[in-house]
Amino acid sequence: MIKIAPSILSADFSRLGEEIEMLDRSGADMIHIDVMDGHYVPNLTIGPLVVKSIRKYTDLPFDVHLMMDNPMEYLDDFIAAGADSITVHAEVLHHLQGCLATIRKKGVRAAVALNPSTSLSVLDYVLDDLDMVLLMTVNPGFGGQAFIPQMLSKIKSLRDKANSIGKQLDIQVDGGINSENVKAVIEAGANVIVSGSSIFSSGEPALVIKNMRSNL
Ligand code: DX5
Ligand code: ZN
Repeated sequence: MIKIAPSILSADFSRLGEEIEMLDRSGADMIHIDVMDGHYVPNLTIGPLVVKSIRKYTDLPFDVHLMMDNPMEYLDDFIAAGADSITVHAEVLHHLQGCLATIRKKGVRAAVALNPSTSLSVLDYVLDDLDMVLLMTVNPGFGGQAFIPQMLSKIKSLRDKANSIGKQLDIQVDGGINSENVKAVIEAGANVIVSGSSIFSSGEPALVIKNMRSNL
């Protein structure tokens, strides 16, 4: 089952509410919210206050991707603001298992993001503690970057690993996904597709979402 998670990083921030309503009408499965702290990545984006203010525009799940040095300190704020799933980067956490357990204990889905150069081996002992793995297919920080093709074999390795232990894992891909390469990432094993610039710049978000979901 393919799920499409448009990233609002490429939305018009002056009318974020309307943009989210448009994504809802266009068939999105969840709203991907990129939180950047100016430390872990150079960019600065959205905090819990903004997440809370846009919560009323849709009932779709909020998929919050924390690109932050200190995600543990903000879990409660993002959950109170309306996050349904929280994704943390393995690279910043001394206690990854503990962080995932904390997120789940608070009643939201827990996910781990890995940068392109981060090995899948960091997941070896936490696969039972997570609901989704986000494989970055660009280096995090900005929308509109080019997909890194070496990530296809990483997606496949993770899907093979999940299959080998009988785990139905959501594998999310994030960065540079468009109508041209979506088929390849799905064939490699991804089932949750984040897409920002290609959806927002298309002029036809509903069509792009439909085509991505049907793997065209
Ligand atoms: C990048 C973000 C992505 C980004 C994707 O750091 O995590 O979610 O918005 O945007 P596109 O689809 O434009 O690469
Ligand atoms: Zn993201």
